[in-house]
Order: sequence, then structure tokens, then C-alpha cells
Amino acid sequence: MLRRPRRNRKTVAIRSMVEETILRPSDFVAPFFVLPGEKKKEAIISLPGVDRLSIDHILKEAEKLHRQGVPAIALFPVLDPSEKDPQGSGALREDGVIPQSVRKLKQEIPSLCVIADIALDPFTSHGHDGIVDAQGYVLNDATIDILTQMAHLFAASGIDFVAPSDMMDGRVAAIRRKLDTHQFHDVGILSYTAKYASSLYAPFRDAVGSKLQFGDKKTYQLNPANSREALLETTLDTEEGADILMVKPALFYLDILAKMRAHSHLPIAAYHVSGEYAMVMAAHEKGYLDAPQVFYEAFLSIKRAGADLIFTYALPHILPQLS
Ligand code: PBG
Repeated sequence: MLRRPRRNRKTVAIRSMVEETILRPSDFVAPFFVLPGEKKKEAIISLPGVDRLSIDHILKEAEKLHRQGVPAIALFPVLDPSEKDPQGSGALREDGVIPQSVRKLKQEIPSLCVIADIALDPFTSHGHDGIVDAQGYVLNDATIDILTQMAHLFAASGIDFVAPSDMMDGRVAAIRRKLDTHQFHDVGILSYTAKYASSLYAPFRDAVGSKLQFGDKKTYQLNPANSREALLETTLDTEEGADILMVKPALFYLDILAKMRAHSHLPIAAYHVSGEYAMVMAAHEKGYLDAPQVFYEAFLSIKRAGADLIFTYALPHILPQLS
């Protein structure tokens, strides 16, 4: 036989010489669920190993991750239900949990990149990502107006990237214009470009308490049956001024990720979401799968498909394997 591909798989040394995809700590972003107050820690039943934390705990954990080479964290607020209303007005409070946390993080760990979502769902009593009309339809332009103010508030608190995550039309351009008007030229936009209406967000909604009170998110998030729509969103977000694009969820959408990679010159992030994490952990707890091994393979495949960055809850399982 002339061709024997197994020669290149013979030893650890040879395999490492021809390895195409290498995971490094700087490929990852760690999400945190932020509780108001201090010294608070609550387990999230559907996300084993992940806690809702007050900012004093997050400062310690983020410091540790950053020391291990993780460049960035993403913050998601957890509000008491009594603080929520149909307009999501908590999103614009200067003393809100995100602006306060960003200020503390940038003060204590200035070199850490801090990202926060721009969307109303953690703040609305109905759990939708925007202002809703009498028929329950999420209003695009009225919502964008609040999103731009939210982005301005977060920028003034010192955020590095705002991450519009609600799939409203025109939000990236509106946010870019608002940030530039207020001289925040250096605050980036990491846009959730292809965010699918997925069943895999359920544990996240438990974590932030944003379970939908009616309807679903199919009038704004993408249809899992479609891929051309993701490329349209890629073109629009690029024209509107996004700095980084995102695909979400990750593993069921690797085809989308690969297509976006081929269509865009921008960095692309993939969000390995709560349901993707929870499935592996549930199987691990039953002894069916080994979580660290499954996560390693999952992240290799996400990076191989074209992601530059991976948002994941699984960093404690993956970091020990990277050094
Ligand atoms: C909010 C948002 C969601 C997630 C990130 N930002 C949930 C949703 O759209 O309902 C999900 C992340 C995860 O499941 O880990 N717009």
C-alpha cells in the first residue's frame, strides 16, 4: 500500500506534530449569573456545578480564571421578581447589578475583558426580550430605543463589549450610533448574529428566572430549519458595525458556524449553551459519559468548525486539560 494514513497517528509525538486544532485558555469566555448584594451563592439545579453568585464571589472566581489565561467573562443579571415589570425598566438603572458589577470588575481586574448582554429578558415580568403589545407581539423599534440606552449605561460603567442578544432588527447600527455619539468609540459590539429559537436555553431561563409567561421567541429568534437567514444576519451585522459575530447554540449549529466563517472576515464566537452543558452533566452523573472528555471533544469540534471564541459553563472541566 502506498498510502498508509496510520503512519501519522503512530505515536503521541507524531499525532501532536500533525494536530490541526489546539484549544487554549484564551479561546474561552466564562459566563456568570450575578446576584445583587454580597456573600450570596445559590446552586442552579438544572446547571450542576454552576451557581448564581454575588459580585464578591465573582471577583474571586474571575481573578482565578484570568490567572489561568481566560481573557473574558460575560455577565447575566438575576433580578428578584418584584424588581421586574413589563417594560424591563430595571435595565436602565444606574445602580443596577450589571453597571455596579462592571465598575467593580474593571477596578479590581483591569486587564479582564468584561462582556454583558444587551436584552430585556432578565428585566421583564413576562420573560420576553422586548416591549410587548396588547397581542403579545414583541415590538422591534420601541425595544431598540431602550437597548441603546442600556448599551450607553453599560459603556459608561466601563464595559469592553456589549452583546445584543435579542435578534431585534437594526439594533447593532442603533447601538453603534449611540455609543459613538457619546464618544464610546472603543466599546465593542459582540452581536448574537445567529441566535436560534432553541429548546436548549431552558436551564439558562431557570438560572435568571426568565421563564416565558406566554408565547415563544419564534418571531425574533431564528428558525432552526434555516441557514440562509443566518448569512443574511451575518451580512447585516457586518454592515451595521459589529466587531464579533456569534452563533448560538453551538453543537447543533456547526454547519451554520462553518458557513458564517466562510462568509465573514470578522471573529466568530460560539455559545455552548446551558442545555448543551446540562445534557453532558446529566449523563456524567449517571455514569454514562465522562464530562471532561466530552467537553474537550465538543470544544475541539466547535473550534474546528471555525469559532475563534467559545462561551461555556464548563471551564472547570476543561482548563485542567489545557496546560
Ligand atoms: C437572553 C439570553 C438567553 C441566553 C443568553 N442570552 C436566553 C434566551 O434567549 O431565552 C441563553 C444562554 C444559555 O442557554 O446558556 N436573550
